[in-house]
Amino acid sequence: MTLKTAFEPYFRIGSAISRRNLHIPADRKLLLEQFSSFTSENDMKPMFFLDEKENLADPDKYGLAPALTFDKAIPYLEFAKQNGIAMRGHTLAWHNQTPAWFYHVGYDETAPLADRETMLSRLENYIKGVLTFVQTQYPGIVYAWDVVNEAIENGGFRDTLWHKVIGYDFVEMAFTFARKYAAPGVALFYNDYNTAQAWKRDLIISNILKPLKDKGLIDGFGMQTHITMTEPDLQDYKTALEMYGSLGLQIHITELDIHNPNPSDASQKKLGERYRELFTILLDAKKSGKANVTSVTFWNLYDECTWLSMFRRETSYPLLFKSSGAAKEAYYAVLSTVLDPKDIEPWTFDAAEEDFIAEPYEEAPRRRP
Ligand code: GLA
Repeated sequence: MTLKTAFEPYFRIGSAISRRNLHIPADRKLLLEQFSSFTSENDMKPMFFLDEKENLADPDKYGLAPALTFDKAIPYLEFAKQNGIAMRGHTLAWHNQTPAWFYHVGYDETAPLADRETMLSRLENYIKGVLTFVQTQYPGIVYAWDVVNEAIENGGFRDTLWHKVIGYDFVEMAFTFARKYAAPGVALFYNDYNTAQAWKRDLIISNILKPLKDKGLIDGFGMQTHITMTEPDLQDYKTALEMYGSLGLQIHITELDIHNPNPSDASQKKLGERYRELFTILLDAKKSGKANVTSVTFWNLYDECTWLSMFRRETSYPLLFKSSGAAKEAYYAVLSTVLDPKDIEPWTFDAAEEDFIAEPYEEAPRRRP
């Protein structure tokens, strides 16, 4: 039994994937056999939906309704449609990976910032354009969107260009537009990291989740869950999970990895133990009704492509699989939270050598060139 079948009674199991994963047949196979959901790691962020060439060439035409391009997102959506796998949409509004020109008069970085009305119009039309395209061309594929990512920092709302141009009701306005254009059944999420920290947890609840819930604008909360071998204390994680859960929102674990720079057997065994503890908490919360966890997504498919090594340059072995498709001890530890020992089968990955070779592709830049 694979992850997706073992956890099917409780929640979807997903993975973030990159262009590279999408171009390697063995990676696609691993994803489809083990997972029931995926997130595009980068290609559905604003820097890839906003058509830089078009907008900059004719800022008067597009000043209130930005030109969008779906070239980067389509391969993921097509793959999902052809293979019957669901997607999490990530992310409509974020201060990162959004081009600087987007916030300025005439889409000109050297001009002043655009005014609130202009930016509200750009935000609304952006959200409308993305949701409408995805929902009409690929109905039923994306079951949830991160509407706003990471808006809380340093004891309050994060100081971003979004807040500067719109004001602190930016989050509420983004959700208002998302609700207006989202198809029925598409769930709207706020997503953030370090969500077990008490100050952050309390602010997320009081400043974001409660007000949005009262207005009927939000369906769920995404706990990213990029954690380490020691932080946070999983009891604090459990407390936070139950507090978020008690709001009556769905909970998604959206970006799960446990940073571990040590590949030794002993340390990887400890990684498995920490995963076991975490999944036990998630399952207990689900079964007891303390938190309605409906989806758990690992941030990347296997150790060799973790963002911790590739982007943060931290060298990490934080996941359940190797690039060969082999399962690590942590994989069996996760399965042991939900299956009887006798039902846990060794995972054998049947892929030919040529399946590991990528078709030509260009990896998604993480910053604007
Ligand atoms: C954050 C974002 C993700 C991704 C990771 C790093 O958690 O939400 O989209 O950029 O950082 O891969």
